[in-house]
Amino acid sequence: MIKNVKKLSNGLKGEIIIPADKSISHRAVMFSSLAKGNCVIKNFSSGADCHSTLNLFKQLGIDIEFIDKKTLKIKSEGILKPNASKISHDNIYLCGNSGTTMRLVSGILAGQRFDSVLIGDESLSKRPMKRIIEPLSLMGAKIESVDGHAPLRIYGRKLNGINYFSKLASAQVKSCVILAGLNAEGKTTFTEPYQSRNHTELLLDYLGADISVEGNSVTIAPSELTAKDISVAGDISSAAFFIVAGLIVPNSDFIIKNVGINPTRTGLIDVVRRMGGNIEILNEQIISGEKVGDIKVSYSENLKGCIIEGNDIPRLIDELPVIAVLASQAEGETIVKNAEDLRNKEADRIKCLTGELSKIGMNIEEREDGFVVFGKQELEGGAELETYHDHRLAMSFYTAGLICKNEIAINGFEWTNISFPEFETLMNTLK
Ligand code: S3P
Repeated sequence: MIKNVKKLSNGLKGEIIIPADKSISHRAVMFSSLAKGNCVIKNFSSGADCHSTLNLFKQLGIDIEFIDKKTLKIKSEGILKPNASKISHDNIYLCGNSGTTMRLVSGILAGQRFDSVLIGDESLSKRPMKRIIEPLSLMGAKIESVDGHAPLRIYGRKLNGINYFSKLASAQVKSCVILAGLNAEGKTTFTEPYQSRNHTELLLDYLGADISVEGNSVTIAPSELTAKDISVAGDISSAAFFIVAGLIVPNSDFIIKNVGINPTRTGLIDVVRRMGGNIEILNEQIISGEKVGDIKVSYSENLKGCIIEGNDIPRLIDELPVIAVLASQAEGETIVKNAEDLRNKEADRIKCLTGELSKIGMNIEEREDGFVVFGKQELEGGAELETYHDHRLAMSFYTAGLICKNEIAINGFEWTNISFPEFETLMNTLK
């Protein structure tokens, strides 16, 4: 589907409520399925990725029912049951486009008494899985892959705890190992170079797991979880497109309500402040163990470029495509370093981002581990951009389209449904 986007001169105004966080929604279904008892999950994500997780746990015998569009009721004995397909003896589970589903569920299934196969779509089948196969194998798991890629054939068996040092700061790898540790013999410790998002740690603690955190290390002991109602905070990674639009579209001034502001996710807010953007956090509170607040943004004429590197990266990894758009409206250079893992996302986000944004006249340069944007510049537009099946590229290009001199076209805009089907409707309410 092609979406045309025109320059906006009147500004964005009003108030929106940002839909549910994708990372927390995945974990809410997974952990409530592993917990004993009944619970209600409020404000569950409507994105396709979280529905891949939901369908998978239904297949694993968990009773999950929608009370309304965004509210789930989960009843579980805390035990997963294999679901042998009628056409083969394999228990086949589809993960769609969702890396979080495949990587976290691998940690859960590796320690079960049954075997399973995890399958992904074309994009997910190209993403690296060695990063989880390696630590799980050290725990005693047996997993077959196609040269480190899905499909993954997981032979369930009893696992043993490990002390693992990861070279990568990745919440998916960390969560996979922690979830395997939940059901392993002895304690498991996972250490990462910088702290990645900690929703797994917070939610497991909320549900009663024996989990502790010291610096960048997390230790889990085998634990039973107890079901508890969960309210999912709004997704700061979805809010990011609105934050950037508010800062770069002249005359904008609005409030984004109910945004998750867990400090392991607020790298974008720090960058906006470093650039001198107008951003304020209001009404901070804690919901189901997670910090939330309202974010007020307004047009910021005097943004300055900055360097984004090191421990900034895991705190804004999913926001880097839209940060490139923001940087084009900041004076001087914005340099993104140490973000090589961006090449392993739904698309190679360094290559595709820099290539596509160059088409609308952005002065952006690809680097091995990131990119450099030379601002401040008027974007020409007048081109058709390819999304490469990547939801965050689609929404970043839309945000850029709001300030391009000439209309742009975005090919594959429907990929926004992966995380944020409400994106355009919400944008229109602010126009
Ligand atoms: C996620 C972790 C991040 C992020 C992804 C969601 C999660 O991936 O990019 O969108 O829910 O744990 P990595 O752990 O691979 O960095």
